[in-house]
Amino acid sequence: MSKTFYITTPIYYVNARPHIGHAYTTIACDTIARRQRMMGFDTYFLTGTDEHGQKIERAAQAAGKTPQQLTNEVSAEFRGLWDRMELTYDDFIRTTSDRHKLGVQALWCRIRDNGYIYKGHYTGQYCVFDELYVDAVGPGAPCPECGRTTETVREENYFFKLSAFQDKLLELYNAQTDFIRPETRRNEVMSFVRSGLRDLSVSRSTLSWGIPVPDDPKHVIYVWWDALANYITALGYGSEDTAKYNKYWPADVQMIGKEIVRFHCVYWPAFLMAAGLPLPHKIMAHGWLLFEENKMSKSRGNIVRTETILDGLGADALRYFLLREVVFGQDGSFSFDALVQRYNADLANGLGNLASRTLTMITRYFKGEVPYPSRAATRTTSDGAMVETAGRTIAEFNTLFDQCQFSRALEVAWNLVGAVDKYIVESQPWALGEKEDDESRSRLATILYTSAEALRIVTALAHPVIPEATAKIWGQLGLGDIRKFPLSALQWGQLKLGTKLGEVLPVFPRADKSTIESMQKMEEQGRRTTLAVEEEKEDKKVATAASPTATSATKPATTEPDGKISIEDFAKVELRVGQVKVAEKVKGADKLLRLEVDLGTEVRQVVAGIAEAYAPETLVGRKVVIVVNLVPRKLRGLESNGMIVAASPEGGKPVLASFLEDVPVGTRLK
Ligand code: ME8
Ligand code: MG
Repeated sequence: MSKTFYITTPIYYVNARPHIGHAYTTIACDTIARRQRMMGFDTYFLTGTDEHGQKIERAAQAAGKTPQQLTNEVSAEFRGLWDRMELTYDDFIRTTSDRHKLGVQALWCRIRDNGYIYKGHYTGQYCVFDELYVDAVGPGAPCPECGRTTETVREENYFFKLSAFQDKLLELYNAQTDFIRPETRRNEVMSFVRSGLRDLSVSRSTLSWGIPVPDDPKHVIYVWWDALANYITALGYGSEDTAKYNKYWPADVQMIGKEIVRFHCVYWPAFLMAAGLPLPHKIMAHGWLLFEENKMSKSRGNIVRTETILDGLGADALRYFLLREVVFGQDGSFSFDALVQRYNADLANGLGNLASRTLTMITRYFKGEVPYPSRAATRTTSDGAMVETAGRTIAEFNTLFDQCQFSRALEVAWNLVGAVDKYIVESQPWALGEKEDDESRSRLATILYTSAEALRIVTALAHPVIPEATAKIWGQLGLGDIRKFPLSALQWGQLKLGTKLGEVLPVFPRADKSTIESMQKMEEQGRRTTLAVEEEKEDKKVATAASPTATSATKPATTEPDGKISIEDFAKVELRVGQVKVAEKVKGADKLLRLEVDLGTEVRQVVAGIAEAYAPETLVGRKVVIVVNLVPRKLRGLESNGMIVAASPEGGKPVLASFLEDVPVGTRLK
């Protein structure tokens, strides 16, 4: 029986659409999975969606949908996108599925029966954005992780005896030194655990969107417990059929972004220890993809949709860029310029050009059959150097790739592309192609065999990273299905003489400025259609409650004959308490301020016509009332996503609505 390999991505929240940050993790895992399969491992690749908890419940509310409706829609969108990219996941787990619920409850019962769960009272702060109990003190205190305002939770719930695992966790990190990768993340986790672990609240009684606690359905299980368990419930843990669980667990690599290290490196192994289950071999945390210098995130709204890049340049271009450009483990920036530059330099002019020139010459000079290299006596040192370089490339690539140093591995592989290019230029096969004497023919055969063989080696190594184009090149080399090639056996000289080439077609058409522009346009349109934003003239419509009729982009609520509206009509307006985090003047607009307002679940940008009434610095920290479910619109090129409520005295300046008592951020006004 072959060796197994199990790899997982985080399961993504369905409170917003997927972007290339999610694609990044999933592509990295897909690449590893493809390579492991070619290396002969019985590989299992899991991804999915995280669908319970307060954050999802509120997102559904804000969208005017039931949580199940929202999760069905967004989960299908994630899955559809992965399918469009032909990612080779073996299973897609949804936490609202029955198989998952069963497994989560089974894990609960096992840990409870082992004596690690007890009932207590929790009073403290909770960050809905991170779905995290935090150590912050006092109502409205900022979350130490993300800075957003926390909410006070006061309820009876169940606790997990996390404190009992402090020493065992430290022993684990010490004994299994590559349990947490890279080292920086391991150090962070170790110092967090050394500073002391408190028991963890693992149920909520004031929330219903979750999996009921066995034998006490007034409580639902904490969403992170629920989510982490996916890695085993997907394999059938807790069900009748545990064949996959027995075969694949423990996982070989669990890939995550660096912001969820604590959940995966502290809570998750502690849960498994409490249940007496084996621990994963490795948790691998990568850095953040930045866009315009900030973490790309749905709450910031600075996202790039994967679809845009697929439409513009295709999946291989995105995969190659992300793995080549970003040093795995560190943060890396995305930009359309850099994407197109990489694409042209490495794919169109690099591998694509090497393939087309080599294969075209074989077609032209040798009727499309891989030629015989000449007898050793007539070979030159440059031929020998190519063989040696290729051999070294295979060894170095393998070592680097297995350490998840994708960008260096690709750099090494592309050095081989550069070396073959140079070899071809220096040996001038086109000049030999004109001659018919035996010596020239023999020399030409050697050069083209050598080039084709080096091309074959790069193609095989790069296949897990750029599967589509390499499958085509492999076919053009006349070698059949590349996925069946046993990569562990890759070495010089496997290209058989006389192999009949397929039809030679270009694989990477060159991109130019217009490609960048069209992607940027697609992004803008995408944002506009998903948000239904209409560009409007700022002079006519200034966004404050001072002129509510002018700002409303939605249809007016239906009015009763006497001008009154029903309670249902009023209920359509979602008013919530927000806290101003950032306030600044808008350049060139005397009346406008740009605000970033924390709503508990997210931070919104709102542009408001209150600059003449308030100095920006006086607003920071202030609690305000926001109309949350207004259609976003643009003012002076800035998106305003919500409206701030103010009284607008006749002829006077607007006055912001506020509260005398302290109210938690996110509270709804009814
Ligand atoms: O945290 N750069 O889900 P999530 C790099 N449901 N990676 C990014 C990224 C960016 N800008 N943005 C997102 C959750 N990611 C939980 C996980 S697991 C049991 C539960 C990737 O929707 C990265 O892998 O917030 C990150 O960890 C993950 O998406 C977070 O997705
Ligand atoms: Mg997140």
